[in-house]
Parts: sequence; C-alpha cells; structure tokens
Amino acid sequence: MNTRRNNMILQFILLIGLVFIGGVMAEENKPLKPLDGFNMDQVERGRYLSKIAGCNDCHTPGYLLSEGNVAEENWFTGDTFGWRGPWGTTYGSNLRIYINALTEDQWITTSHALRSRPPMPWFNLNAMHDEDLKDIYKFIKYLGPRGVAAPAYLSPDIEPKTPYALFPPPPK
Ligand code: HEC
Repeated sequence: MNTRRNNMILQFILLIGLVFIGGVMAEENKPLKPLDGFNMDQVERGRYLSKIAGCNDCHTPGYLLSEGNVAEENWFTGDTFGWRGPWGTTYGSNLRIYINALTEDQWITTSHALRSRPPMPWFNLNAMHDEDLKDIYKFIKYLGPRGVAAPAYLSPDIEPKTPYALFPPPPK
C-alpha cells in the first residue's frame, strides 16, 4: 500500500518536473515579436542559423560556459574573455555594433572576404551562402545595436588584463 502511494507521489513529482522543463523550452523557442520592416520568417531563420553555426560561442558573453543560457537580448554583444596563443590575444567582437554599421551588401562582401586571427573560424564564414548571410544579418539587425566594443587585440608580448584561455603552440 505504502509503496503504491510512494509511487504515485514520485510520478506526481516527475510530472511537475516535465511540465516545468516544457515551460522553459517553450519560452526559449517562442516566436520573436514582429517588428515593422522585418520579414519574421527571415529573422527566425537567422536566429536559428546563428545558433547552430556556433557564433554565440565566442561573440556572446558567457555563452559557452553557461551552456547557452544567455538571454537573446544579449546575444552577439562581444566578449571580454580573451583567446591567447602564438597570434597574441583576440576577443570575440561585438557583432551588434559591427553589423549595425554595415549595409546588407557590405556584410555579404565582408563575410566572403574576411581574414582574421584565431580562433575566429573565418573560413567557415567565407563559405556561407548569401541567403544564410542575409538571414543572420536580418536577425542581428532585428536585435539592434547594444553594448560596447570588445577589448582591442593584444600582441603576443602583452599580458592581458582580462581572463583568457591560453593555447599552446601547435605541435611541430
Ligand atoms: C571560436 C570562437 C569564434 C567563433 C565560433 C566565431 N567567432 Fe567570429 N571572431 C572571433 C574572434 C576572437 C574574433 C576577433 C579576431 C581578431 O581580432 O582578429 C572574431 C571576429 C569576427 C568578425 C570580424 C569583426 C571585426 O570586428 O572585425 C566577424 C564579422 C565575425 N567574427 C563573425 C562571426 C560569425 C558570423 C560567426 C558564426 C558563423 C563567428 N564569428 C564565429 C571568434 C569566433
């Protein structure tokens, strides 16, 4: 009798847990509020693409170490966490400011031609199709400019004042 009651209590707790997780997930995947001048299908696709292409990992503060738990309004605002290696120290740029200063055409041209220091995977960005670049552009424009510029690049001999990850030189 007691076991049955315990089982029921356990099932109830599990159910509450599932409803809670469902609620959190629904919140995260909620469609964005429509905004004048924006095709929301395009914005939603840009939202999806920028997430799966990994751009947030380095361009959104705290994204990687919080396992993606950063409010969307803070996405792409740049990071003060440095990436130090034989190239010096780099910081994920604030793309909310960067993209806001570019026309869509300039963004497409820049994305295909970009060369930058590690760990920016510029070769992946170079290969992105124009349609995908346009959607990412629209999504970041939709979010609007926010935050301040990320710290400037430091040459290898300068000790960063911010926290940073140190890459050893690659094996010979
Ligand atoms: C592994 C980390 C990492 C990932 C992932 C990443 N970036 Fe970057 N990105 C950087 C860093 C660091 C810089 C600055 C490089 C430098 O200073 O030379 C940068 C620079 C850039 C720049 C040049 C900005 C400027 O101020 O000149 C653009 C544009 C950019 N990234 C877009 C993207 C996009 C779009 C994605 C996703 C497809 C992405 N990045 C993914 C780390 C990353």
